[in-house]
Amino acid sequence: MTGTFVGVTRTIDGSSIARRIRAEVAERVAEAAAVRRVPGLATLLVGDDPASAVYVAAKRRAVREAGMRDVHRHLPEHSTEYEVASVIDELAGRSDVSGILLQLPLPPQLDAAALIDRIPVTKDVDGLTTASLGRLARGERGLRPCTPSGVIELLDAEGIELKGACVAVVGWGELVGRPLTHLLLRRGATVSVAHEFTADLAAVTRPADIVVVATGVRGLVGPEHVRPGATVIDVGIHRTPHGLAGDVRAAELDGIAGRITPVPGGVGPMTIAMLLVNTLRAAEWGAEAAPVPVC
Ligand SMILES: NC(=O)c1ccc[n+]([C@@H]2O[C@H](COP(=O)([O-])OP(=O)(O)OC[C@H]3O[C@@H](n4cnc5c(N)ncnc54)[C@H](O)[C@@H]3O)[C@@H](O)[C@H]2O)c1
Repeated sequence: MTGTFVGVTRTIDGSSIARRIRAEVAERVAEAAAVRRVPGLATLLVGDDPASAVYVAAKRRAVREAGMRDVHRHLPEHSTEYEVASVIDELAGRSDVSGILLQLPLPPQLDAAALIDRIPVTKDVDGLTTASLGRLARGERGLRPCTPSGVIELLDAEGIELKGACVAVVGWGELVGRPLTHLLLRRGATVSVAHEFTADLAAVTRPADIVVVATGVRGLVGPEHVRPGATVIDVGIHRTPHGLAGDVRAAELDGIAGRITPVPGGVGPMTIAMLLVNTLRAAEWGAEAAPVPVC
């Protein structure tokens, strides 16, 4: 079954929403700098994966543009777990480093989960430590993973009500789908989750008011999956000879979806904006968590 025309599909402009958030962060950083508390983000890159190098460079640029301190460490491809752990421990102990980002994926000889878990919860700007994910599941204070919080920010910026909304999350990955499910449930949405073993994807997504797709499968979702008028959020990113593409066949949803995020210019810019927000929150949390001097 395919959709019915509902009028003009509105494109959700993630780039401009992200720009606004980044400008707000820069204002807060300037206020913090006035009292000599400049937030700092440390990025740690291990190895020479070209895509990772590009992502880290973009994050560092955004950090500097927001007026934050940019601390960077680059370790060789064949680093041992001890060497990477030592750098994380050093950064964890520095008062001028508010947040630590360990760029993934790591070379295969390294245990990513163990290394991520060395990052203190107050500096975990990616929100991927066991402690942060536990706090997310329990609704306790913590830093939330950047991409799913970017999705929530986009929906909020568009004024889309989450309380009582029916949301289908397609993809149950650790970085996006899983944490997003918790965030949506906390906001009062009714959430259905589909994954690679879901027998009838359309049966899960067609009733939804909002469909979020984060599978890594290019062009997976199209008109057969979307109720006319629904909002579609495309988290997927694929490099193609014609530029970037998503997990959604966006052109086929024109006139069917009520709103849709483009690729590029939708969720992508929000991920970096939320990293800056998390660094600011980490700086505030770290300052609170500082031990009270004993007289
Ligand atoms: N825009 C951004 O900033 C950003 C950030 C992170 C990830 N991503 C993208 O989001 C996507 C998902 O990332 P991830 O790390 O969560 O991926 P992942 O590989 O950890 O998880 C993929 C999920 O998709 C599900 N899936 C696979 N095939 C499916 C199918 N045919 N039908 C339904 N579900 C299916 C799997 O069961 C799994 O739960 C990727 O394309 C990634 O590039 C984008």
